[in-house]
Amino acid sequence: MRPTFHFSAEREWINDPNGLVYLDGEYHLHYQTNPHGSLWGHMSWGHAVSTDLLHWTQLPPALTPYPARVEGATTMIFSGSAVVDRCGLSGASNGSGLLAYYTAHERVGDQPINESVALAMSADGGRTWINSTANPILDPGRTDFRDPKVFWHEPSGSMVMAIADPIGRRVEFYGSPDGLSWKPTGAFEHPGVPSMIWECPDLVEVPVEESSATQWVLLVSSGHPAGEPFTGMQYWVGRFDGTTFEADEPDPQVVDLGKDFYAAITYNDLPRGSLPVLVGWASNWAYASATPTTPWRGMMALPRELTLRPTATGHALIQRPTHHLDRIVAQSVELGSPIDSTLDIRWTTDASPTSVAGFRLRGSDDSVLDVTLSRSANQLTCDRTQAGTVDFSEYFPSADHAELPNRWDSRPIATRVIFDGCIIEIFTCDGEVTLTSLAFTQGPWTIEPLGTPHCLEIRQIDASGTR
Ligand code: FRU
Repeated sequence: MRPTFHFSAEREWINDPNGLVYLDGEYHLHYQTNPHGSLWGHMSWGHAVSTDLLHWTQLPPALTPYPARVEGATTMIFSGSAVVDRCGLSGASNGSGLLAYYTAHERVGDQPINESVALAMSADGGRTWINSTANPILDPGRTDFRDPKVFWHEPSGSMVMAIADPIGRRVEFYGSPDGLSWKPTGAFEHPGVPSMIWECPDLVEVPVEESSATQWVLLVSSGHPAGEPFTGMQYWVGRFDGTTFEADEPDPQVVDLGKDFYAAITYNDLPRGSLPVLVGWASNWAYASATPTTPWRGMMALPRELTLRPTATGHALIQRPTHHLDRIVAQSVELGSPIDSTLDIRWTTDASPTSVAGFRLRGSDDSVLDVTLSRSANQLTCDRTQAGTVDFSEYFPSADHAELPNRWDSRPIATRVIFDGCIIEIFTCDGEVTLTSLAFTQGPWTIEPLGTPHCLEIRQIDASGTR
């Protein structure tokens, strides 16, 4: 069941992507990991590199816990980001060093006592890191203050940090001329759902389709409290002047309608002309530690390219699989023949108001996973209630729905589904709606069409050498 071109660690627990940065032809993927096992704990930054976001090489952990400031306490390296060093802090020649800003989480036993921002520097392309002697570089003395996303803001010639006040459901912004001294510049808040907390903020400039304009998108992961079955990500589109973010519309939109897309952030310092690339953790805190895989646990969703599409009510975030995937999508597969675990499945649903079309993925264990797009119900559904091993958590078995935007009512809808071992990611309405879902079924699989007659195009993805 272990995915191939989706990143997972060889034998460790993983959660959030951290420190996504591009330098000298390499995409660095850092991630929350427990180097000692397949359950959450000893939180550290794992490290993998790739030249195409699909073929990954896992390297030794980049950042691991260090002695705490307070006697009897321990540290953990919680989430954060990495950026090319424009401040000359790493000692590397201009533009070749890396800076990592992470959450220094301190606790006594199971009790968190402080979260602050710490800096680590690398002068050798992220192979080794040194903690700054100035750490913590930002410490307001709070228990919940985490997941700094730092990036270079060209127009103001400064470094910007977006960081979460989880309980207050606020994203705070800080600015710095030198990467070391940080001053508050503004905040964005929303009453949101009171039972949810905010984590892993990201602020990213995204091009608007078919125009030369850009808008800023604020992404927030919200969820987490025990018992909350559906955690997910939300976003606002708006403006950022280098100090604070203002949303065009007060209420957020949802990033992905599946249960398994969380803590996603975008890459820093991509080559000029690239679209922003978003990577999410494909799991859910409600059952992440019980997912039936061994010895590895946890994986990343496929890196997604982002654009914005103007709509009658504002802008919609458009997500498409990284364009690198097209290079490894190989030959067509016959419907009905047993298939391998790496597939790219596409079909088009016509505009007739009664059409329902999709497919059933049938495993060798008699499991079935159904994906359908219904025009009459105006929704996409991914039903994993009978999809193999589902009983490890009451929150796992479900049929998840995504409503289709009204503007697609009278148009054919093309849907693309990427399948890789135990994950399926659905992209429909030309990237306007996505739904990510884990499913623990046994292969080999067969595919059957569901609903009104339609043509399924099934292609194998050549995943050799991706891990
Ligand atoms: C989000 C999160 C972050 C935190 C990390 C700890 O999934 O809770 O807020 O930094 O995971 O592993």
